[in-house]
Amino acid sequence: MCGIMGYIGDENAVNVIIKGLEDLEYRGYDSAGIAVSNGSETTVVKTAGSPSGLWDKCKSIKANIGIGHTRWATHGAATEQNAHPHTSEHGMFSIVHNGIIENYAELKSGLDGVRFTSETDSEVIAQLLEKEYTGDLKGTVGGVVKKLKGSFALGIMCSDYPDVLVCAKKSSPLFVGVSPECTYLASDISAVADKSMRIFRLNDNEIGMLTKDSFKVYDTDGCRIRKSEVKIKSFDKSADKGGYEHFMLKEIMEQPTAVRRTLDEITADGKISFKGIKWNRDEISEINNIRFIACGSAYHAGLVGAYAAERLIGCPAEACIASEFRYMYPHLDSNTLVVIISQSGETADTLAALRLAKKKGAKTVSIVNVENSTIAAESDCVIMTRAGKEVAVATTKAYSAQLAVIYALVLYIAMAGEKISKNEFQRYVNELKKLPDKIEQILISAEVGRIPDKILAGDYVCFIGRGFDYCTAEEASLKLKEISYIPCEAYAAGELKHGTISLISDKSLVIALCCSSELKDKIMSNVNEAAARGAKIITVTDIDGDGDIKIPNTLDMFFPSLEIIPMQLIAYYTAKNKGCAIDKPKNLAKSVTVE
Ligand code: G6P
Repeated sequence: MCGIMGYIGDENAVNVIIKGLEDLEYRGYDSAGIAVSNGSETTVVKTAGSPSGLWDKCKSIKANIGIGHTRWATHGAATEQNAHPHTSEHGMFSIVHNGIIENYAELKSGLDGVRFTSETDSEVIAQLLEKEYTGDLKGTVGGVVKKLKGSFALGIMCSDYPDVLVCAKKSSPLFVGVSPECTYLASDISAVADKSMRIFRLNDNEIGMLTKDSFKVYDTDGCRIRKSEVKIKSFDKSADKGGYEHFMLKEIMEQPTAVRRTLDEITADGKISFKGIKWNRDEISEINNIRFIACGSAYHAGLVGAYAAERLIGCPAEACIASEFRYMYPHLDSNTLVVIISQSGETADTLAALRLAKKKGAKTVSIVNVENSTIAAESDCVIMTRAGKEVAVATTKAYSAQLAVIYALVLYIAMAGEKISKNEFQRYVNELKKLPDKIEQILISAEVGRIPDKILAGDYVCFIGRGFDYCTAEEASLKLKEISYIPCEAYAAGELKHGTISLISDKSLVIALCCSSELKDKIMSNVNEAAARGAKIITVTDIDGDGDIKIPNTLDMFFPSLEIIPMQLIAYYTAKNKGCAIDKPKNLAKSVTVE
């Protein structure tokens, strides 16, 4: 989490860096700051809140080198004091840091007498650099990096070297962009992709030395490392609301295109093929265990995958929360397929799960939306979702594109292993291809009516479902709580009477997803149980049912792609009626690069 931007060149570094930080805001936006130098003096400016708050404060500053940071607080509140850059006691070093320094307390206790001015873990890096400075900048940074435990992407300025930026990283992404006139540093490839002629990705424990016209990389012992460029195939930087009030609404509306584009790349002439999959048919048919691993909404997409895989492939399949995966001490082998799902391709826990899966010899395939992401680079095979750039923190179109890939992947494996007949496969593929049109149909006629007001009037919201509908309940509940801050939960409908039903009263709203053809009767019993205790009920059914919200018919497995659309709209309008910051909900960030 957090965003880093650095620049050396002839333009005013202040403008380039603040603009860059605004582009990186999706990584965190609770406070921001810059450190810039005009060659003789370093100026540090900070603000509590979004990076745009820096413009006014920096109006009269001119500089040709600098670093900036937009923060998502981990250690210490989101105050100006705790905002980066942090400066060493005597002002020699200014640093920006993404990640967490796990041994900061121990390092701090070794800096007796040094005056700290923030509550952050990061400040210790600046103080340590000053304390250990030998006059050799590269050597000093290398020595300090060796002492740091945890994760870090660092941008460093030293007053003795007014025309140099130093960077270093471990387990947190960092990129350098080199053009003939200037050099950039950024924590995200998107911030340098359109500006630079050549882009380089720093690897763990590498130290980068940047000047206006050079970029050199060393290991922590000072030995030179030759780097090759990152090849960028395409980069979608579109960050325009296109007339919509919020990115989230625009992205909800873009879902038919996102799903269509994703499916067009992997389905043709009634067949499914993945360019990114390198295993042969025998290897695929040997798969006897599947784990879908992800965080947040991507985990909910994985939940759908697990239900679909058990049903169609007929092997044990499980969705795992990435942050828990390592602590399950999972049993994996070469016949286990680990499916890593991540919009950003950078989520720290998901990446750690991928690395563990590879270490244990599992087959790994990642489903990502960002082509040059770390997860894409490290997986055995990659399948792209073609959702385009997603700006709103709460995912919508990337989630829908993930579902599309997951369905196709499950069908592909089932077919390769002859677990389903050709006819059955064809029936599924034909229906899969219809999803974009059906999503479009829902968006055209979608009417969420007074449901947002009912949510706001009550004191408890619960989403229930069974089977595939249950997976949607989980995602619907997450959408509502993350953008409207309304406490709500999702329940497998059969579980209601094992606890949650004690919360139900005449002030409760139960939103029941009742599309699954085989489970309709059972979920209706659960709906009646809630209604009998006074709850207001909203039901979602297929077009032939008598639900409050009706969606087009499809095969049970595909209902999650359709049911979620009205749920996203309900969340959106509830948050809007409440006056919430829809695209940037409080305390959240789009890319979660700390564990
Ligand atoms: C954050 C985002 C969610 C996303 C999750 C996983 O929490 O707000 O929208 O589902 O991270 O992110 P990933 O990039 O790995 O899909």
